Amino acid sequence: MIGVGIVGTGGIAHAHARAYARLADQDVRIVAVCDVIEDRARQFAAEVGATAYTDYRRLLERDDVRVVSVCTPSSTHFAISADALRAGKAVLCEKPLVGSLRQLDQLAQLEAEYGGPLNCVFQYRYGRMFRGLRHLISSGLTGDLIMADIAVLWHRDDAYYSVPWRGKWATELGGALTTLAIHGIDALLALAGPVDHLSAETATLCHQIEVEDVASIALRFSSGALGSIYATSCNHENLSQCRFIFQHCTATSHQRPYDPYGLPWSFQSESPERKAEIEAALNSLRLEEQVEDHEGQIADFVASVREGRRPPVSVEAIRPTHEVLTAIYKSAMTGERVALPIAPEDPYYDGPPPLRASLKAG
Ligand SMILES: NC(=O)c1ccc[n+]([C@@H]2O[C@H](COP(=O)([O-])OP(=O)(O)OC[C@H]3O[C@@H](n4cnc5c(N)ncnc54)[C@H](O)[C@@H]3O)[C@@H](O)[C@H]2O)c1
Repeated sequence: MIGVGIVGTGGIAHAHARAYARLADQDVRIVAVCDVIEDRARQFAAEVGATAYTDYRRLLERDDVRVVSVCTPSSTHFAISADALRAGKAVLCEKPLVGSLRQLDQLAQLEAEYGGPLNCVFQYRYGRMFRGLRHLISSGLTGDLIMADIAVLWHRDDAYYSVPWRGKWATELGGALTTLAIHGIDALLALAGPVDHLSAETATLCHQIEVEDVASIALRFSSGALGSIYATSCNHENLSQCRFIFQHCTATSHQRPYDPYGLPWSFQSESPERKAEIEAALNSLRLEEQVEDHEGQIADFVASVREGRRPPVSVEAIRPTHEVLTAIYKSAMTGERVALPIAPEDPYYDGPPPLRASLKAG
C-alpha cells in the first residue's frame, strides 16, 4: 500500500484527492490530511476516509504516509517540503515550489540527502499536445524553432484576491507570473530550451494588490529563437494560448480558458507532405488516451515512487522555470536586459527585493 498525506485542504487539494482516488485499485490510499483550519481538515478527512490533523508535523510522523502532497499557500511550500523530505517522504508540492533559487538549491540538497523524491506540480507537462509537440520536435519533423509566444490572459476578481495570502509578496511570492503564468512558462521552456537573455516589464494596473497583475516579456532562447510571454489577471475572460513557429510548420493551440496543451491544435505548413507526416506522427501517439492534468502527473509520480525511478517534474527539471522567473523580476525591477544563468552571487538569487526579507525570516 502507498499511504498518502495531503497538507492543506483548500481549493487545489480536491484535485489531488480525485487523482489519488483514481489509483485506489493500485492500493494507493489517502490516510492523513492536515489543515490549520480544523473544521476544513475534518470535513476533508471525512470525505476521503482519512485522519485529520492541524499540525503537519504530526502527519509526517506517521510511518504509513509514504507520499505527501503539499497544497498550502505558496510561501509555506519550502518549509513543509523541507520537513517532509527530512521525514523521509516522497513529496509532490504545488507550484510555485519556492520563492528563490537559493531555496530551490537547498531543497535539491535535502532531496539528495534524504532520498525524497521531490516533485513540483506542473500539470501542463501532462497535456496531450505537450507530449505531441515534444515528439514532433525531437523527431525533427518541425525543424528548428524560430519564434514562440504564450498568452496567459486570465480573469481574477476581488473575491479571489480577498483570500488573505493572495496578492502579497510575502505569502503569494509573486503575482500573475508566479501564480498563473508559471505553468505556461514552465511548458514553454521545457519545449523551447534554455533562455540566453530577456527583457521584462511588469505592473500592477487593475487590482489593489502588491504583486504584478500584468507582464510582458521578450526572450532570446539559447538556440537563437525569439519568444514572448504575455500574462495578466486583469482580462475579462480566461484565455490561454500558445504558438510555436518552426522552420517547417506553425503549431497553434486553440483558445482555452486554462490548459492550452489539450487537444486539438492546428498545424500549418507550406508543404502538404510535411503536414501529413505531422498528422500521422501525432495519430501514432494515440494522444487522446493519455491521462491529463493533475490525474496524469499524480499517477506518474506515484508510479515513479513505486518503481524507484527519477520522477519526471524533478527539481532539476523545473530549475529553468525559476531561473527565468527570477530574471524576469530582475529585469522588470532594474530596467536592465538580464542574461542567464543567475549566479549565486547575484542578489536576485535570494529572490526579488520585496521577497528577500520574508524568505530570510522563514
Ligand atoms: N496546479 C494548479 O493548477 C494550481 C491551481 C490552484 C492552486 N495551486 C497552488 O496550490 C496552492 C494552494 O492554493 P489553493 O487555491 O488551494 O489555496 P487555498 O487557500 O484554497 O487552500 C490552502 C489551504 O492551506 C491551509 N493552510 C495554510 N497554512 C497551512 C499549514 N501550515 N498547514 C496546513 N494547512 C495550511 C489553509 O487553511 C487552506 O485551507 C497555492 O500554492 C497555489 O499556487 C495550484
